Amino acid sequence: MFAALIGTGSYLPGHPVGNEDLAARGIDTNDEWIVTRTGIRSRHLAESGTTSSEMGLIAAQRALEMAGIAASELDLIIVATSTPDFIFPSTACLIQGKLGNKGAAAFDVQAVCAGFTYALGIAEKFIRSGGHKKALVIGAEVFSRILDWRDRGTCVLFGDGAGAVVLAASDKPGILASAMHADGSQNGILNVPGQICGGQITGDPFLRMDGQAVFKFAVRVLADVAQEVCQAAGLQPSEIDWLVPHQANIRIIEATGKKLGVDRSKVIVTVDRHGNTSAASVPLALDEAVRDGRIQRGHKVLVEGVGGGFTWGAALFEF
Ligand code: ACO
Repeated sequence: MFAALIGTGSYLPGHPVGNEDLAARGIDTNDEWIVTRTGIRSRHLAESGTTSSEMGLIAAQRALEMAGIAASELDLIIVATSTPDFIFPSTACLIQGKLGNKGAAAFDVQAVCAGFTYALGIAEKFIRSGGHKKALVIGAEVFSRILDWRDRGTCVLFGDGAGAVVLAASDKPGILASAMHADGSQNGILNVPGQICGGQITGDPFLRMDGQAVFKFAVRVLADVAQEVCQAAGLQPSEIDWLVPHQANIRIIEATGKKLGVDRSKVIVTVDRHGNTSAASVPLALDEAVRDGRIQRGHKVLVEGVGGGFTWGAALFEF
């Protein structure tokens, strides 16, 4: 029994916001600095009332449409997000309610930028166990809400959006291998170290990052986890048709591709237009490449992510 990807969908809010637009809004930055260090040229930023569940719903509807199944057929809904609408209920339950599905298991996964790869691996295991047949996996984020817009070292890096896939039990491949890992000792290099307590914010409610430590950690674990799933599936990285990495920084993407020996032409890149959308980045990039015809049925695709925690994960599937 395999978990096969039968649909993808995505959603980006509003219009692209360019690097010079950020400078025009009073951030002490410029296009040259951002492009040279990150490859980011623009990102989408949600309006103040837009939530992860609203964006995730649209991505989910598009994925269900491609899959050709009704929301009522789903028996599992997992949402990867670090920017949920509420403390509870989960964003997955909110999207389930908006889709009109009743009865599916629905829960959120918190693994920050690795969240989608975690959610995909969890859904695969639920399906392979035989307990579930049709799963919706969503990554949805409004990171613009947790950015300190006075911190130019972080606020220029992120964007908002959502992506989704539909998985179905199948006797044909399918996800061939998946992996997920964490190292909680690294929690200090990327975090939002705040909380609401008794109606007050305690700690710091904004994203904080040691950029250089994150860079080094990300390149190492992304190459390792890609090797791990390739080995589990009996493939060499060079045999992959497409690498869809977490879209944080073009230099991390290029360094990982080089370490793996995957040609640049096989790497899907959206970071230039999306920025880092955390758990939404991989399904957004995947959907773009499926819809523009680069990723086709039968292709072998490796998706991978790394994020705060630190967490990291990957999945290798035949589309
Ligand atoms: N515009 C202009 N100048 C800036 C900006 C900005 N937006 N941000 C920082 N600077 C300045 C700094 O103030 C500093 O100036 P100084 O030398 O006068 O003090 C200078 O640029 C260098 O700053 P550094 O932070 O040392 O810059 P660095 O070369 O390390 O690049 C960056 C920073 C791009 C964040 C890099 O460390 C990086 O790519 N790290 C990876 C982090 C990442 O991708 N995180 C995404 C989230 S994590 C994830 O998704 C896994």
